[in-house]
Amino acid sequence: MTAKTLMLAAFAATTALPALAASFNTLTGDAPLVIAHRGASGYLPEHTLAAYELAIQMGADIVEPDVGTTADGQLVVMHDDSLARTTNVEELFAPRNGGYALADFTLAEIKTLTVEPYATASETYPGFVPSMADPYRVPTFNEFLDWVSDYNDANGTTIGVYPESKPPSTPAQNAGIVAAMNFHGFTGADQNSYIQTFDHLAAFEIAELEGLLGMEVPVAALGYATETADGYAVYDYINGSATTLEAMEGRLGGVGVSLGSPGLTSEFVAAAHALGLEVHAWTFNTMDPEAARAQYLEYIAMGLDGIFSNYPDLAVAAVREYADMAPVPLPAALPVLLAGLGALGAGRSAAPASVRAA
Ligand code: G3P
Ligand code: CA
Repeated sequence: MTAKTLMLAAFAATTALPALAASFNTLTGDAPLVIAHRGASGYLPEHTLAAYELAIQMGADIVEPDVGTTADGQLVVMHDDSLARTTNVEELFAPRNGGYALADFTLAEIKTLTVEPYATASETYPGFVPSMADPYRVPTFNEFLDWVSDYNDANGTTIGVYPESKPPSTPAQNAGIVAAMNFHGFTGADQNSYIQTFDHLAAFEIAELEGLLGMEVPVAALGYATETADGYAVYDYINGSATTLEAMEGRLGGVGVSLGSPGLTSEFVAAAHALGLEVHAWTFNTMDPEAARAQYLEYIAMGLDGIFSNYPDLAVAAVREYADMAPVPLPAALPVLLAGLGALGAGRSAAPASVRAA
């Protein structure tokens, strides 16, 4: 190998280095977290253990459950305040109070239901066999946490959880979520785990409650990104007001904003990062791989710290592609380049003629 070839090889090696950390515009410089929104909900029935398992197999960093409360005060993993869209409740029960509100059914009743596929989801995914015996029941929040904990223990992984306290984010529901997280050991700031709510007053209360328990799980305030006279902010649909990023500084871990937010810009993300806040965005819901790829790459470049996706395999692929595309930071590349230059210099001055000519 000539000295020039050696230098080129050294340079090429730098481009293949897994020096991903400093290549992203995230708060930490690490790759953005792929958050499986309701599990791999674009493929399998949402909020089921099977959908969470598939998401993890696809490479998701975090699994997201929405959390609501049953008639008998139990926390279950479900998005809607009605059982009708995602389960077969209408086949098994008569309406109550004119509908099928989650709050009107007991946990025992809900456990008789089957969760059904919605939108692009199906009952099966090619090549995937759920490991659990009854994968399409409505999980309790405790069952969900148990399952993720057991998965991490069995596989040596650090899959995070990202529960959302669904409206109404009552004090009892919020406290139940915090207590369950505490009980299952999701207590730290470094476990890829978060707690989120659209109710910003509840977000601050959850953070304070965590403080009382010595927990440090970052709390995220949901809404749409905007800019007010007081600065960048997130609009709180529940309380009808905008909470500035400055008001969140030091109290919350970040924000979860709608992809449809006109205010979700690079400047918004940079402003959040300057205050130590992460920016996560929802929901990446494009199934077509090429269209999805372009959307992911655009938002990854913006510096998002977390990506809520219904198709976590596509999000993971985009993060990996971006990592390969991103320029290697100079500090990581410098030693190898210098070695190559040194070899080139040595080749000019000391290599035998036969080598110099090669
Ligand atoms: O929690 C982020 C995102 O999930 C909020 O939207 O309605 O899907 O819970 P939604
Ligand atoms: Ca959610």
